[in-house]
Formats: sequence, C-alpha cells, structure tokens
Amino acid sequence: MGCCNKRQDGKQKRWNHVLAGWSAALLFIVGTEAGHPDINSWEPSDAEYWGQGAVSQAPFPVPEMNAGDLTRENFDYLVREGRAFVVRDLAENCSHPMKSWSCSYFQHDTEFSKVEVKREYMNDSSLPSFVRLGELGKTKSSSLSSSPFYLGIKEAIYQSPEDLAADPLSSVTWSRKVLEKVQSHTIVPPFMDPENSEILNSTPEFWFSAGSKGGGAKAHVDTHTESTMSLQLSGRKRWRLAPIARRAVPHVMKLYTDGKIYERTEQMHWNILADVFLRPGDALFFGPGFIHQTDAEPGECAASVTWQFNVPLPTKLWQSFLPRFRWTPDLEHTWPILRELLFAHKRQGATAELLDLDGDGKANASERKQVLSLWTELERRAQGPEGASKLLRSADITAVEDQDLSGLPPKLQRAVRRWERDALLKDEALYAATQGRDEL
Ligand SMILES: *[C@@H]1O[C@H](CO)[C@@H](O)[C@H](O)[C@H]1NC(C)=O
Ligand SMILES: *[C@@H]1O[C@H](CO)[C@@H](O)[C@H](O)[C@H]1NC(C)=O
Repeated sequence: MGCCNKRQDGKQKRWNHVLAGWSAALLFIVGTEAGHPDINSWEPSDAEYWGQGAVSQAPFPVPEMNAGDLTRENFDYLVREGRAFVVRDLAENCSHPMKSWSCSYFQHDTEFSKVEVKREYMNDSSLPSFVRLGELGKTKSSSLSSSPFYLGIKEAIYQSPEDLAADPLSSVTWSRKVLEKVQSHTIVPPFMDPENSEILNSTPEFWFSAGSKGGGAKAHVDTHTESTMSLQLSGRKRWRLAPIARRAVPHVMKLYTDGKIYERTEQMHWNILADVFLRPGDALFFGPGFIHQTDAEPGECAASVTWQFNVPLPTKLWQSFLPRFRWTPDLEHTWPILRELLFAHKRQGATAELLDLDGDGKANASERKQVLSLWTELERRAQGPEGASKLLRSADITAVEDQDLSGLPPKLQRAVRRWERDALLKDEALYAATQGRDEL
C-alpha cells in the first residue's frame, strides 16, 4: 500500500478502534460469547512448543532418558504436554516380564507359534493374508514382504470366538487364552500411575516384520484419544513422529488414514521431530493425534508391543493445539471428551488443567472465558464453511473417509469435496504465511 494512504489509514484505525469499543460494549450488554480469542494466534509455533524456545528449527529433539532416572512427576509432566520421548532400557530396568519375548520366542513358544498375524496393506480387493508366528520369516511371502504383520490380541476382549472366525480382518487364534498370557506379562512401569493397569490390559497389540526389506507402518494418525507406549521387544525400529499440522479452517474428511499424507504437499514438511531409533528393551511414548511412521531395520525380525494409557490426560497438548484438535476429523473421538471436560461443573483435575492458561495451578474467570469462547467458536465454524449449502449443514457430516464418500448422494458428495478442497488450499496458504514465524 502506498504512503499516500497513510492519513486515511490513521483515520480508519481510529474508527476501527471506536467501532471495536462499541461492539465490545454491545457484546457485554447482550452477553454473548462472540468475543473469542484470535484463532490463528492461539497455538504456539513449532519452535515454541517442540523446540521449547531452545531449538529454532526442525528437526526438534525428542527427549531421551533412562528408565531408572524417570520419576512419576517428570513422566506425568511429559505426558500432560503430549511430548514424544524415549525411555531407554525400560525392559531391563523394570524387569519387564516380556523382556525375553524375542522374535525367536514367538516363533517357538507352544502357544504363540500357532497364533496368526495379519499382513497389513493388502489391496482392498484381496482378502488379508495371515501367517502363523511359527512360520514368520520362513514363508516366501512373509520374508519378502515389506508390510508389517499385526496381532490384534486386544480383539479377544471385544469379539467372541464366533465373531473372530467370521471377521476377515481378525483371526480365531486371537483367543482369550493368549490374551490372558499377554496380560499376565503386563506391568505398569514404576514411573507410571498404577491407575493405568486396566487400560494397559485391554489395549495390547503386537507388530512384527520379518523380512529382508524391513517394513513398517505407513504414516498415519490413530483415531483413539489416549497416549501410546510402544516397547521394542526384538530388532531395531525407526519411528518418525510428528504433531498434525496447523489448520486454517475446519476439515470434513479424514486426513491421516494410512499413507494418505503422502498424497498431499503436507508430506514435504510434516516430519519436524528428530527420528527415533529403538533397540530391544527401549520404549517410546507419545501423545494422541501424532502422525507416525515406522520402519524396521531390514534383515532382522522385529517385534514390538503397543499399549494405550490415559492417566494423566494430555491436557496441555489439547489446550495448546485446541484449533487443530477440533478441526482435524481424524480426532473426532476427542471432541466429546473435550466438551465434557470443558463444560464440567468442577474446578479441579483435568478440567482445571485445560482451562489454566498460565500454569499457576488454577483457572481464573478470564482464563475460563478465553478457553470456553475459543472452543465455542471452533465448534460453530466446524458446522460448515461460510455460505455452506443447507443440504450440507442439515446432513451434519463430520469425519468422512475416502471410501465413505461414494455412499453419499451426489450433491452432498460434491459439497463435501468442495469443502475439503478449499480447506486444503487454505491450510497450504496458512503454512506458507506462518513458516517464517514457526521458525522464530
Ligand atoms: C496392489 O496392487 C497394485 C496394482 O494393482 C500392485 O502394484 C501392488 O503390488 C499391490 N499391493 C500388494 C500389497 O499386493
Ligand atoms: C487471570 O489469569 C491471567 C493469566 O492467564 C492473568 O493475566 C490475569 O491477571 C488473571 N486475572 C485475575 C483477575 O486474577
């Protein structure tokens, strides 16, 4: 803008000021919540949060510590902040009962050797293929595969033997008996709240890769709302982790199903944390809503077990990144949890943590108002883009996956695609505009 507009600008500014004053007064009188904090400046930059002001550019470090040095207080702090961090030698240090569960153990144990594992990432058209653990790495398809193998033993809690037999994605060998064996070898590490015992026992899953190609999970975000613990049992594995991207506007389609990020320009800049390399006995922890991709070291059989846990809740992570948590459809299961916590009539625990902006241990009236009005505005905008058709609004669509799209009426399909396309463009523009700021 040329300098000749300066006077005009000044005048305009004063007017804006007066108008802002008036509208603030008006809001006060009417008592609406419309005076919400600025959404675009709510979230910290990557350097502020992941670099903690000490590292200004990606890759931001992933903290590492030894299991013996970790206190409950430090652990809970890291978990509330939703940090990714590595605990070295957990199995050895905590005398973990799964310490001896190497690949060879799974291949030769009388019970586990008969259990089937499912090869991931088969084409939609073909039925998934299963291999018995006793055969892992011995059959040609399992040794040449770069797909990992999955043992969803937690399914034994949710599915009867008949259900498991009928479900093409599960195996009847994922039995109660095997689950009980896993549970009897599960411990809550001493630095973790013992309240997590029940959830650890109900969420175990094992991952294997057996071949000359290594192999692992494509970049994705889990839809569950809990934090994750992964213990490397055998072999070495690289983990690539990152928080999801900042969102300019709400999205309507899931963005982080397996490998979907590779189709977007986001793939060029998502990987902002340092790579993590786990050795047998090391554990990795990370908060909900993290993008993660794994690659086992080729030529060696790798085995790992992952669990979810939810004490403490990742309240600082949620609070800091409320806009992206609310506007990323993959995280739809987090929304009701946040609503319940935010609008609970109690003033302690996770509710207070979510509302306490300056970290002084309590939430005062102004902090409450800021967080609640931000959330209300995020929810309002998530109803649909400006000028969205009645059809779209009345359909109440929130988290569409690619394969669900064809099931929608054509008009709605077009509206959803348009919403999503515009949202992606706006995200890219926001990324371009904030890149300098994000790097301090
Ligand atoms: C899936 O299909 C494509 C082409 O149709 C093929 O190139 C690819 O190897 C298949 N993937 C698997 C895991 O079989
Ligand atoms: C409430 O907390 C904020 C920090 O988030 C602080 O700036 C403000 O002064 C506090 N207000 C009162 C009334 O204590």
